[in-house]
Amino acid sequence: MYRTHTCGELNMKNEGQDVILSGWVQKSRDLGGMTFVDLRDRYGITQLVFNMETNSALCEQARKFGREFVVQASGKVRERSNKNLKIPTGEIEIDTEEITILNRSEIPPFTIEEETDGGEELRMKYRYLDLRRANVKDNIILRHRFAQEVRKYMDSIGFIEVETPVLIKSTPEGARDFVVPSRMQPGTFYALPQSPQTLKQLLMVAGFDKYFQIVKCFRDEDLRADRQPEFSQIDCEMSFVEREDILNTFEGLGKYLFKQLRDIEFGDPFLRMSYKEAMEFYGSDKPDLRFGMRFTDVTEVVRGKGFVVFDSAEYVGGICATGCSEYTRKQIDELTEFVRRPQIGAKGLIYVRYGTDGTIKSSVDKFYSPEDLKIWAESMKAQPGDLLMLLSGDRKKTLTALSELRLEMGSRLGLRQKDKFVPLWVIDFPLLEWDEEEKRFFAMHHPFTSPIPEDLQLLESDPAKVRANAYDLVINGVEIGGGSVRIHDATVQKQMFKVLGFSDEEANEQFGFLLNAFKYGAPPHGGVAFGFDRWVAMLGGQDSIRDFIAFPKNNSGRDVMLDSPSRISGKQLEELHLILGGKDNK
Ligand code: AMO
Repeated sequence: MYRTHTCGELNMKNEGQDVILSGWVQKSRDLGGMTFVDLRDRYGITQLVFNMETNSALCEQARKFGREFVVQASGKVRERSNKNLKIPTGEIEIDTEEITILNRSEIPPFTIEEETDGGEELRMKYRYLDLRRANVKDNIILRHRFAQEVRKYMDSIGFIEVETPVLIKSTPEGARDFVVPSRMQPGTFYALPQSPQTLKQLLMVAGFDKYFQIVKCFRDEDLRADRQPEFSQIDCEMSFVEREDILNTFEGLGKYLFKQLRDIEFGDPFLRMSYKEAMEFYGSDKPDLRFGMRFTDVTEVVRGKGFVVFDSAEYVGGICATGCSEYTRKQIDELTEFVRRPQIGAKGLIYVRYGTDGTIKSSVDKFYSPEDLKIWAESMKAQPGDLLMLLSGDRKKTLTALSELRLEMGSRLGLRQKDKFVPLWVIDFPLLEWDEEEKRFFAMHHPFTSPIPEDLQLLESDPAKVRANAYDLVINGVEIGGGSVRIHDATVQKQMFKVLGFSDEEANEQFGFLLNAFKYGAPPHGGVAFGFDRWVAMLGGQDSIRDFIAFPKNNSGRDVMLDSPSRISGKQLEELHLILGGKDNK
């Protein structure tokens, strides 16, 4: 028997018991005549004690333990004199009587404790060691619990989990596909699913009515903290539903998950906001509503006083930072530098200090009198003590820059707390996006997203105005999920393909299987997919999804532990009928 208990469960109730534990040596300390060893397993840490006076041979043996040795120890549970109330086992220790080294370890490349000296790259290379650290392990356990709760809830409301294939044909999510060459069909390729979108629609045609799946998706796109090339979705689809049914169903899931995993209750319905409103007041289709600081359009208010920058701007907008009128020159310079960064792209920042004594001063006093500035302050609902910040230029770019400034201010003012959650449904997205380079419309979501019924008549006459029956779930400024009511009517689908510039042949070549299926009685249906990794990371209070994936890829899409992607042998290439081009392969 390797163990009678785990390293996380013994406490004062076990005092006096004889126990056997197995685990890893986290660290060992020699203090006078005593040696203390922290023994770790998945469940926790228990202190082993060795006494030089009572058993010098055993103590000598323990002193030879290296970090991460795998050992078995037996002894008696006793009360500790020096208690550590921060851990559940901190009131006891094991008066060790016998030890066996089950396996040795080389000196690990970084310290395997919560606070580690290992850099990201090193930890990823030795991810199996990184995963021994309690905080990383807890993230993976949270992920497991999240998955169990999702399955429990979805099952309880009648959804069934159906697995869909991974070797498929290109799906319409708009990123680049990962492809897999076929050995048996020379010159042809499978595509890995960017999502099971078309398959879940086929399951609706098949009559499954309510489908879900926790599923791997693959997208070859630029990576960042909340994007991995392979990630998981909670993918869902339902039949005989309208938008309202879908939003209500998944609001239920959302509320359940927050309750189970964070003990947070949302009594009220989730907030809703149209895409138009989100863009106009927050400059983003995923506004962080943990704080206000809505934009005010002051384009007309500031015009006509000879300040060319504002007079010539398509849009002038501002935010009001409560209680920031005392910001120093240095702080304002920092913010100016911030908005001027190339990735934000504003030319400059105009500010107005509305002093607590009612005085008002700006960086454009040359052009505007205190009375003018008071009018700005009024239109922005500013109070004495506030700081107004204005950006100007092209409307779209300025809204985006203002959004970044708003988020930066939110962070600086501590308004983006990790333990506060504000879920929001963003609805009524535009159906189509105009691509200036290709001079054609693209589906903002995918080509099966239906227009909202009252806009259907505009589909041919004024496509840009058509709103989609689509929605995103945004929590704290993160897009957690998105979906839509689908087109199930062949005539509307045809119209949609026409607007997207697909010929009948092109539509058939890409989506023939789905269009065909739709000829056999497709029910009205719709669905949604949630970013599983993103939702877990958010519940875990972190921004990077990588920390919640057991074996993630780095920002260049590499698995540094497996050293993948990597070359394959000439024989494999030959079998796959592949000849590599490019200078690296000459
Ligand atoms: P969408 O493309 O919006 O919708 O994806 C759904 C959700 O998946 C998450 N997500 C990602 N998470 C991590 N890494 C990525 N690279 C990544 N890409 C997306 C996001 C996103 O909201 N088939 C549709 C859904 C539908 O219409 O039902 C779809 O895939 O949280």
